Amino acid sequence: MNDAPELLSVRNLTVDFATAEGLITAVDNVSFDLREGEILALVGESGCGKSATALALLRLIANPPGRIASGSVAFRGQDLLRASEDEIRDIRGNRIAMIFQEPMTSLNPVLTVGRQIGEPLMLHEGLREEALLEKCVKLLESVSIPEPRRRMGGYPHQFSGGMRQRVMIAMGMGCAPDIIIADEPTTALDVTIQAQLLELLRQQVETHRTALMLITHNLGIVARYADRVNVMYAGRIVESAGADDLYERPRHPYTIGLLRSVPRLDQPTAAKLVPIPGQPPDALRMPQGCAFHPRCPFAVARCRAEAPALREVGAGHAIACWVDVDG
Ligand SMILES: Nc1ncnc2c1ncn2[C@@H]1O[C@H](COP(=O)(O)OP(=O)(O)OP(=O)(O)O)[C@@H](O)[C@H]1O
Ligand SMILES: [Mg+2]
Repeated sequence: MNDAPELLSVRNLTVDFATAEGLITAVDNVSFDLREGEILALVGESGCGKSATALALLRLIANPPGRIASGSVAFRGQDLLRASEDEIRDIRGNRIAMIFQEPMTSLNPVLTVGRQIGEPLMLHEGLREEALLEKCVKLLESVSIPEPRRRMGGYPHQFSGGMRQRVMIAMGMGCAPDIIIADEPTTALDVTIQAQLLELLRQQVETHRTALMLITHNLGIVARYADRVNVMYAGRIVESAGADDLYERPRHPYTIGLLRSVPRLDQPTAAKLVPIPGQPPDALRMPQGCAFHPRCPFAVARCRAEAPALREVGAGHAIACWVDVDG
């Protein structure tokens, strides 16, 4: 059990998008906690609401079309959804850093990399001149960027995809934040670089007791790095468990399906991969009851009528399912 102090406490978070076709509930009543030094994974298929959840925590949902419809996000007891613009700006980048899914959307193409790494350090830590330069070089070295002094004068387009992700991580770590939110930080990269970057993030967590929220659809990454896993489906958390527990004894039919659909290091190589039948639901036409029921081999009548809430099925293990497959 992790009894480190709680850093972030999210309760009943709901995010809507008003689209031309109608209202989409991208995040539906999501609650979770994040503790000091913890690596929490958020997993689920494309469109299930992972990025919207992360963006909402820092009030980065573009309005319109988006809106945080309800809920609370407490960071060390402070409600971020009700904080002033100044307060939230100070927390972003300084206390809670976000590494975005696509680095080119968050790196400014017309500013040098050095300037972009240096700016938050000037702003939040008051560093100037030689001290600032030294810190920037150190940060770029820590993410294994060769010739950091020279590379600081380069622009983002002069860096490869992997290098840009490293720059993002360096920027994220710059102010020694309490929390790093990494949204699919490695999907676009080849596997060796993925592994290097994840190791970097892990070192950061271990050295500074930083908490890490790792958003990914790669269950291999989850198994290897996460302490806890929240599985999301159609905007909701459908299973939450310790990582070992989740792999050993998944209890939600969706998680069971996900685990069967990807190769696993802890299973004989002959284990057959079985994709989950069907598609995730159309956000504009959510099925009645449990959103997973049309794809679920265990569905019973109640699943078609009523959406299940998360309920405890073991120590630190909860599922949103009427049928506890393994119960
Ligand atoms: N700006 C937007 N306008 C309208 N709908 C949006 C917007 N951003 C997200 N959505 C919708 O909200 C839902 C959740 O999207 P989100 O980006 O959070 O998914 P995700 O889990 O991060 O997916 P991926 O794995 O592809 O990154 C989707 O149905 C998506 O189409
Ligand atoms: Mg996303």
